[in-house]
Amino acid sequence: MDYAFFEGRIVPVEEAKISIMTNSFHYGTAVFEGIRAYWNEEEGQLYLLFAKAHYQRLIDNARCIFMEIPYSADELVEITKELLVRSQVREDVYIRPIAYFKDLKLTPKLTDYTPEVAIYLYRFGRYLDTSKGIRAKVSSWRRNDDNSIPARWKVAGAYVNSALAKTEALMAGYDEAILLNSAGFVAEGSGENIFLIKGGKAITPSPDQHILEGITRNAVITLLRKELVVEVEQRAVARSELYTADEVFLTGTAAEITPVVEVDDRKIGNGEIGEITRQLQEVYFRAVRGKIQRYRGWLTPVYDK
Ligand SMILES: Cc1ncc(COP(=O)(O)O)c(C=O)c1O
Repeated sequence: MDYAFFEGRIVPVEEAKISIMTNSFHYGTAVFEGIRAYWNEEEGQLYLLFAKAHYQRLIDNARCIFMEIPYSADELVEITKELLVRSQVREDVYIRPIAYFKDLKLTPKLTDYTPEVAIYLYRFGRYLDTSKGIRAKVSSWRRNDDNSIPARWKVAGAYVNSALAKTEALMAGYDEAILLNSAGFVAEGSGENIFLIKGGKAITPSPDQHILEGITRNAVITLLRKELVVEVEQRAVARSELYTADEVFLTGTAAEITPVVEVDDRKIGNGEIGEITRQLQEVYFRAVRGKIQRYRGWLTPVYDK
């Protein structure tokens, strides 16, 4: 049976129910995270990936909306481990922590509310097709601006923007949306950061381009530089650069490293997964399962041995 962390206790997931009076349900004033844990069959061990960094981002994002989470990042990692052990997870799993305002006062303000943290598990494998690659469409919806709802924060209400873009892309027969920012430069996917490879160099929108500064994005920059010896440039990226890139891929906790083989009906490279993307996937998937010693620091083992 799967358990959830809810109102300070670990309970069977069916018992984790919020009230209709929840402020965050009405106004989108919740912050959330996505964390993955990877199963290592040979070791019989489950590894949480970048757990502390995700919880620190949750705490930091919460502060931006005047929400003081009553747990430290270390405490939240411990609670998550307990949840996974209680649920006896022995496969890859996605974890969704969410912090929300519990009570309802009919004013869209951010003060005088009681914060609450819930954590629950999704047992799913791949989010997008990492083995064949996907077809993406530049969205007609622009990424929410830093001066409206910062894309840098994983705040629930802002994801209506992602949902509009993703739905538009799916309805038009594509797999994912690529959003431009209000200045018309490439920002990111609906739930992923984006990288281009051109002439052996990697290019990704810089943090000032109205993006979420992804934890996977940072890890991928490290792997590109250290393992593949590929230079990484962070800058404004024009839409037209997507069409002439040799390779394009998306990164994110859910999306991992997802190759993009077509953008706006134009093949990227020869329309197949590029060589750098393939090598990067190979090293990433080994690192997240604890198979590369020097990246063990990314991981938190769940089961005591
Ligand atoms: C809009 C957006 N961009 C990028 C990412 C990737 O971030 P991370 O690698 O920290 O999961 C996510 C997922 O959390 C996201 O929702």
